[in-house]
Amino acid sequence: MTYPADKRASPEAPIHDLLARRFSPRAFAPEPPEPEVLRRLLAAAAWAPSSGNGQPWRFVVGVTGDETWPQVLDCLDPKNQAWAQHAPVLGLGIAQMLRDDKPLRTGPYDLGQSMAHLSIQAIAEEVYVHQMAGFSPELARETFAIDPGYEAIVAFALGRLGDPDTLPDDLRERELRPRTRRPLSETVHRLSS
Ligand SMILES: Cc1cc2nc3c(=O)[nH]c(=O)nc-3n(C[C@H](O)[C@H](O)[C@H](O)COP(=O)(O)O)c2cc1C
Repeated sequence: MTYPADKRASPEAPIHDLLARRFSPRAFAPEPPEPEVLRRLLAAAAWAPSSGNGQPWRFVVGVTGDETWPQVLDCLDPKNQAWAQHAPVLGLGIAQMLRDDKPLRTGPYDLGQSMAHLSIQAIAEEVYVHQMAGFSPELARETFAIDPGYEAIVAFALGRLGDPDTLPDDLRERELRPRTRRPLSETVHRLSS
């Protein structure tokens, strides 16, 4: 089976189709996106805005069959490994946390923006990104020799959509639920209509 149409966002005001189509799947097609597609996703990430154009982001990217992919998989929590072991690309988003020995408050914020750029460029390429906080930053630091001034903030799986029927029962049920958001009235304060 394919993903149902109601995985699409149902926003209170019309939003761009690329944003409406984005969601975080757990079922991926086994074939990795072509190297030039991955390069475009990373170029989109690189062109995100950042405080002082500091670009405080770094990425680790592994593709099935290379030595990096299983190293990223090992860093994931078992709950995420259960589905991410079938994703053709696994990676880490790393933020700079110190600059000139002082805390860099905007490091993780800017990394988040670059991940958003990557995720939306991905949709334009029919590729989907699923970000994860469920991983071990300590193991990531050890495995990839991450500098003390940097920290792995997020892991991600990406690829083209797979068949949600291939997921274990509990995950498939969650996977097929329509997506929801808190109403704008509870999210935005002092917006005049
Ligand atoms: C920083 C971050 C951490 C996340 N961590 C996990 C995770 O560890 N495991 C997981 O299955 N999904 C994770 N997600 C995915 C969210 O659950 C998902 O984005 C959210 O439920 C909204 O669904 P949508 O992306 O399909 O709109 C994470 C997303 C973000 C942005």
